[in-house]
Amino acid sequence: MNSVTVRVPAKVNLQLAVGPLRDDGYHDLVNVFHAVSIFDEVTATAETGMSVRVEGESADQVPEDGDNLAIQAALALARHAGRSYGVNLIIRKAIPVAGGMAGGSADAAAALVACNELWGLGLPVEDLMEIAADLGSDVPFALLGGTAVGTGRGERLTPLEVGGRFHWVFALADGGLSTAKVYAECDRMREATGEEIAWPRAADPLLAALRRGDAKALGSELANDLQPAAVMLRRSLARTLETGREQGAVGTLVSGSGPTCAFLAESEAHAGELALSLKAAGVARDVITAYGPVPGPTVV
Ligand code: C5P
Repeated sequence: MNSVTVRVPAKVNLQLAVGPLRDDGYHDLVNVFHAVSIFDEVTATAETGMSVRVEGESADQVPEDGDNLAIQAALALARHAGRSYGVNLIIRKAIPVAGGMAGGSADAAAALVACNELWGLGLPVEDLMEIAADLGSDVPFALLGGTAVGTGRGERLTPLEVGGRFHWVFALADGGLSTAKVYAECDRMREATGEEIAWPRAADPLLAALRRGDAKALGSELANDLQPAAVMLRRSLARTLETGREQGAVGTLVSGSGPTCAFLAESEAHAGELALSLKAAGVARDVITAYGPVPGPTVV
């Protein structure tokens, strides 16, 4: 086999509860991850060196050198195996870049799965999970898919039972937001208000709504502690969120560190209508529909 292609989904956070800043620069979190049907594709082809090419949605904003997280994933896997393997990665992007939907983490997870197969390593998912956690806080979930609660810095995962399919609309913004800058702004705003920082907990009503597959109940429980910071750094998001509410979304929130905004609909048809209204309102660069949960990386 000299080529393997893996399809990998984006995520939205249903609850992102940010705890205090830790000594290592990360925050303890409760992060309810939900994989949705927006997919990147990563093709790994056997080669002597390590190289990457990026195509598709905002490809020019993704590094094609050692800063690329998918190449870092391939290198980490080769190191783990104790061999000097080579690979060429081609990443076809549909997940918005720096959009708060873990696109870079998804590509890294896809690279781990593709190279594990390409190089015939046969490593179990537990080994890939360990490598994933070193690459970034969201990479372990990107390997898992579905819906799961992440604790620690987001890397310790417990899969959740979900009683149905949820229909989403995503409003894509021009340009991205740096995750590190959004966390720093969150810390700054909390310091300025002297707000007491609660220890993060998963919200029971949110978990119950997920188990029942109840979109309306889930919509009213969506919560993201990074949202005020993302809106502070990108003021136009306030209007995007407001427009979604006015147009009848059952839940609205900024996805992760933003700037993508997520709107929960009651049904697939409702998501289609909501997408049309948001497009007509001109509050986003692009508007796309998707559903969740979906499985993690799949060899195609
Ligand atoms: O883990 P990752 O490299 O994706 O994190 C990017 C940045 O997001 C970190 O450097 C840190 O500033 C912030 N972060 C955080 N707490 C977390 C996860 C990420 O402060 N739990």
